[in-house]
Amino acid sequence: MMTLAPDHMLDPRPIRADFVAAMGNAATGVTVVATDGPAGRFAQTVSAMSSVSADPPSLLVCVNRRSPLADAAARNGVFAVSVLAVEQAHVSDVFAGRPAGGEPYDFGCAHWRELATGAPALTGAAAVFDCRLDACHEYGTHRILLGEVLASAVTAARPLVHHARGYGSPRPL
Ligand SMILES: Cc1cc2nc3c(=O)[nH]c(=O)nc-3n(C[C@H](O)[C@H](O)[C@H](O)COP(=O)(O)O)c2cc1C
Repeated sequence: MMTLAPDHMLDPRPIRADFVAAMGNAATGVTVVATDGPAGRFAQTVSAMSSVSADPPSLLVCVNRRSPLADAAARNGVFAVSVLAVEQAHVSDVFAGRPAGGEPYDFGCAHWRELATGAPALTGAAAVFDCRLDACHEYGTHRILLGEVLASAVTAARPLVHHARGYGSPRPL
């Protein structure tokens, strides 16, 4: 008797490629996650940021374990999340290691202020969250940092949007 393979086994496209393509069509905000303390000052562009709960105020970010930020944030026990404004696309590229000009990961590309935890936040960001690290979870290539939000601030700046490997700005329908 002949048995048929399940649909997903007949599909020659690798599951990973499908995943990457599908995620590319998910619009996200863009943040810069930064830490400072005994383990040093580091920052990285992160789109994988999500609210966890308002009770207690908490969020999570997913950072590649090879990034110096992943290690330093865990050791410093604090991090700040700056939600980039549309005018800050160049800051995203600097902290993704691919600046159009200048040095990658150069804190001098923008203005910062130190939050209560000691973590740096970007001046002019659309929103800022000051976090104490509450938990870490390793999954695949990434480290999930769960932060208890000790303070938040919002501005009138419009948030930068990332979609299909490009930047955009939000527009009401
Ligand atoms: C818009 C954007 C969003 C990104 N989001 C994430 C993310 O959520 N997590 C992550 O680990 N890396 C993310 N990255 C990639 C890192 O910023 C980048 O790979 C990292 O800085 C290391 O780059 P390098 O090793 O080439 O210097 C993102 C990059 C860009 C441009």
